[in-house]
Amino acid sequence: MSMLSGKKAYVFGVLNEYSIGWHISQQLHQAGCQLAFSHLPGEKIERRVVKAVEPFKPAFLAPCDVSKDEDIASAFIKAKEHFGTFDYLIHSLAFAPAEALHNPFLQTSRAAWNTALDISAYSLLALAREAQPLMNPGGSIITMSYLGAEKFIPMYNVMAVAKAALECTVRYLAAELGRHEKQIRVNAISAGAIKTMAARGIGDIDKMMVHYTEKAPLKWNADDAATHVGKTALYLCSDLSSGVTGETIYVDGGYNIVGW
Ligand SMILES: NC(=O)c1ccc[n+]([C@@H]2O[C@H](COP(=O)([O-])OP(=O)(O)OC[C@H]3O[C@@H](n4cnc5c(N)ncnc54)[C@H](O)[C@@H]3O)[C@@H](O)[C@H]2O)c1
Repeated sequence: MSMLSGKKAYVFGVLNEYSIGWHISQQLHQAGCQLAFSHLPGEKIERRVVKAVEPFKPAFLAPCDVSKDEDIASAFIKAKEHFGTFDYLIHSLAFAPAEALHNPFLQTSRAAWNTALDISAYSLLALAREAQPLMNPGGSIITMSYLGAEKFIPMYNVMAVAKAALECTVRYLAAELGRHEKQIRVNAISAGAIKTMAARGIGDIDKMMVHYTEKAPLKWNADDAATHVGKTALYLCSDLSSGVTGETIYVDGGYNIVGW
């Protein structure tokens, strides 16, 4: 029997086959997990996502802009209709206005700050709140973070603040949900550089990939970087991680441990 057979996951944040959420889905699918997806509303995006997730034979797709409470509510009404209950919530999304990533950090506007923290950090709390009543005991929630939460990364700017808030949110959710009788676990994966649409918006991703390849103790390259992340997500969903919650686990080939 496969590791996750009979289990169900709701994945937020697949845009295309390059998305980290897609690679997490691939690992869960291979392990026998049934999948459902949300996508940003809009016909063009929906078509793109439908095509990308087709190999995973999704139970359903739901439009959801996580900055809108009504979208989140209807995404989980759909989950109740199609899934009844489910086991895993994958939060693999983030957004910051382009100007906040390209201008000096000092110039970050209040509006850009609010948007980045709302979509990239508060959304985890909002999704977890709706998900918890529908999640089975022993379930797992996973989000995606980045080294910028802890260290200065050029141009990461307000997204770094959002990731710091996200990692803190993981700890508070883990404490509350872990003490609840359902014992749901909440963890973040802090990934190394991966060539995705979101990464292209931050800066020179090709230069960053070369830097990671040169510096990370383990091999880190565009071909299998996202697969490493997917495998850790599989571990965090599976019973192998039954004692792990509130953690930020680095999956970056060891890049973060190197000082010079
Ligand atoms: N690519 C990297 O190098 C890297 C490294 C570490 C962490 N991450 C994180 O991984 C996660 C996934 O990003 P990715 O790199 O796979 O890029 P991606 O562009 O493939 O995925 C980003 C997703 O966010 C979704 N999104 C943006 N705004 C949204 C909103 N308002 N409502 C709902 N969905 C919204 C997009 O539709 C998309 O599906 C993000 O949290 C990102 O910060 C990425």
